[in-house]
Amino acid sequence: MNTAQFISKSTHKVIEKASFTWQTPSNIALVKYWGKSNPQLPKNASISFTLNNCHTITTIDFERKSAVDKTVAFDLFFEGKQKATFKPKIAVFFERIATYCSYIFEYKMTINSENSFPHSSGIASSASGLSAIAMCLMSLEATLNPELSSVFINKKASFLARLGSGSASRSIEGPLVVWGAHPKIEGSSDLFGVQFPYKVHSVFENYQDAILLVDKGEKQVSSTMGHNLMHEHPYAENRFQQANNNLLKIADILQNGDIKAFINLVESEALTLHAMMLTSNPYFILMKPNTLEIINRIWEYRTENNSAICFTLDAGANVHVLYPEKEKLAVNQFIENQLSKYCQKNQYICDTVGFGAKRL
Ligand code: PMV
Repeated sequence: MNTAQFISKSTHKVIEKASFTWQTPSNIALVKYWGKSNPQLPKNASISFTLNNCHTITTIDFERKSAVDKTVAFDLFFEGKQKATFKPKIAVFFERIATYCSYIFEYKMTINSENSFPHSSGIASSASGLSAIAMCLMSLEATLNPELSSVFINKKASFLARLGSGSASRSIEGPLVVWGAHPKIEGSSDLFGVQFPYKVHSVFENYQDAILLVDKGEKQVSSTMGHNLMHEHPYAENRFQQANNNLLKIADILQNGDIKAFINLVESEALTLHAMMLTSNPYFILMKPNTLEIINRIWEYRTENNSAICFTLDAGANVHVLYPEKEKLAVNQFIENQLSKYCQKNQYICDTVGFGAKRL
């Protein structure tokens, strides 16, 4: 695998101070990534819708150190407050990317970050959070080395984000991103996410995702632990093969607009992800009773209204309700009148498919 292309070139340009701000989105996988090998390489290919309203905004202020040493110096503020609990994960991230971004040793970095969605809403912030840091680093790298192309900048940002959190590699671009080498997806790679390279049917344009906040508590099992449990999992190999087959199928569905096939594949992927958790050892359940209530109401609504509504799940109890834009009014009413009662404090977030990172 060609990782040498991502090692930053040394430059004679000296920049004393710089500051960059990026807004990067969360994403929701349609074919899920669950299981990895070192260093952050996926066991199967995955594909996600990039979101729009659920995002992180991060500013990094870079100040050149008076003497360069071999330590990574950074302060981290989340919503204006110093956040010691987030620091170890970011420190590991900087360690992993140091080979590719040696300039991080030359600067003191002050990171200021905030999410558009409520903290501990059960919406994973690692994808948006790490992709935002990666974009800020790439802005510095591009200032030090102005020849870098925008294609390379996005590719390397995805490569870096992946080293922090696998799914973050899918949060640089949009509206559909594939991560993981797959023979039928041109340009796909285990190292970084790529935009879905084929023309997508109009039914999937501006697709809607309402995130129903069923449980906002801390997850009892981290995604790192969940991925690790796939190493000894009795069904792991079949699952990885199934996911790659599903990616092949969804690649056709996205082009031909077969919405029934889309619903079947996306819901099956969500339940299979959770089935992997139920059948690992130790086993665990991330769904809550209200997750199942919502799923059943969605199924009823779909039959009664001949609707194209469906659900997917992340590694948590929240439900992502997916539907075409033309059903927006009706489904939003259904959610408000019939599903919001299953959410903590009746809270849900209406989102829509988005186009990736934005420099602010
Ligand atoms: O990026 P991680 O390591 O937090 O893993 C995320 C895995 C899922 O969100 C459950 C699925 C996916 O493909 O996004």
